[in-house]
Amino acid sequence: MRLRNKVAIVTGGGSGIGRATSLRFAAEGARVVVADINFTAASAVADEARAAGGQATPVEVNVTKRADVDALIEQALAAYGRIDILINNAGINRDALCVRIKDGEVRKMSDEQWDAVIAVNLKGAFLCSQAAAVPMIRQNYGRIVNTSSIGALGNIGQANYAASKAGVIGLTYTLALELARYNITVNCVAPGATKTQMTAGIPDNLREALIQKIPLRRMAEPEDIAHLHLFLASDEAAYITGQVIFCDGGISVGI
Ligand SMILES: NC(=O)c1ccc[n+]([C@@H]2O[C@H](COP(=O)([O-])OP(=O)(O)OC[C@H]3O[C@@H](n4cnc5c(N)ncnc54)[C@H](O)[C@@H]3O)[C@@H](O)[C@H]2O)c1
Repeated sequence: MRLRNKVAIVTGGGSGIGRATSLRFAAEGARVVVADINFTAASAVADEARAAGGQATPVEVNVTKRADVDALIEQALAAYGRIDILINNAGINRDALCVRIKDGEVRKMSDEQWDAVIAVNLKGAFLCSQAAAVPMIRQNYGRIVNTSSIGALGNIGQANYAASKAGVIGLTYTLALELARYNITVNCVAPGATKTQMTAGIPDNLREALIQKIPLRRMAEPEDIAHLHLFLASDEAAYITGQVIFCDGGISVGI
C-alpha cells in the first residue's frame, strides 16, 4: 500500500477523475476526504471506497468560498488529525456559445462564464492550497497536486478555461518555491481529453476527430489520471516539485 495512513483531500471527488483518484487512494491505504459541491455524489464515492475496505468521509464544499474551504480543513483535521495530501481537482467549463466548436469565440463569452470558471478552477486551487498549507507546514510534510489541462495551451471557445488552467501552472510554480522549505511538494497534472461528465456532451463525430489527433488513439480513462495522482502523492515522488506533467496520450507534442 503506497499511501498507508496518509490523509488525503480530493476536491471534486464526487465525479470523474476525482472519483477515480479517491477510490485509488483509499485502496492504497489513505484516509480520504471526498470533497465536492455535490454532497450526494461525494457520499456515494465515500460509500464505494468504504465498501471496498477503505476509509473515506464525504464533505460538502464550494471551493470558491473561503469559509467553506476553512470548514473543509477543520473537518478533515477533526476526522483524521492531519492532512498529508491535497488534490486540487474540482473544475468546471463554461464555453463560449457556439453551434459548432469552431464557432466558439471570445466575443460570445459572458462575464458570468469568465468569472465562474476562474473562481472554481483558479481561485479554488488557491484557497484550498492556502488553507491546507497551515497543517502541512506544522507537520513539515505535504503533497499538493493541482489540475491544469491541455486546454492551458489554448482552445477555441475556452478563453476562460485556458486562462484558468494556465494560471494554475503559475500558481504551482510559486507554491512549489514557497513551500519547499517545509518539505511540501507542489506539482500539477495536465490531463488531455478524459472520459468524464465534462466531456460527455462532445458529439460523436467531434469525439472521433479528436481521438484521431491523439497519438495513442484514445481518450484518457479517469484512472489514467488517478495513477499519476497516486505517484505524485506518494513518497516515491519526494524529490519532484514545481513540475507540470501532461497525461494526454501525446497530443501536446509534435506539431
Ligand atoms: N475531462 C477532461 O477531459 C479534462 C481534461 C483536462 C482537465 N480536466 C480537469 O480535471 C478536473 C476534473 O474534471 P472531470 O473531468 O473529472 O470533471 P467532472 O465534471 O466529472 O468532475 C468535477 C467535479 O468537481 C465538482 N465541482 C464543481 N464545482 C465545484 C466547486 N465549486 N466546489 C467543489 N466541487 C466542485 C463537481 O461537482 C464534480 O463532482 C477538472 O479540474 C477539469 O478541469 C478534465
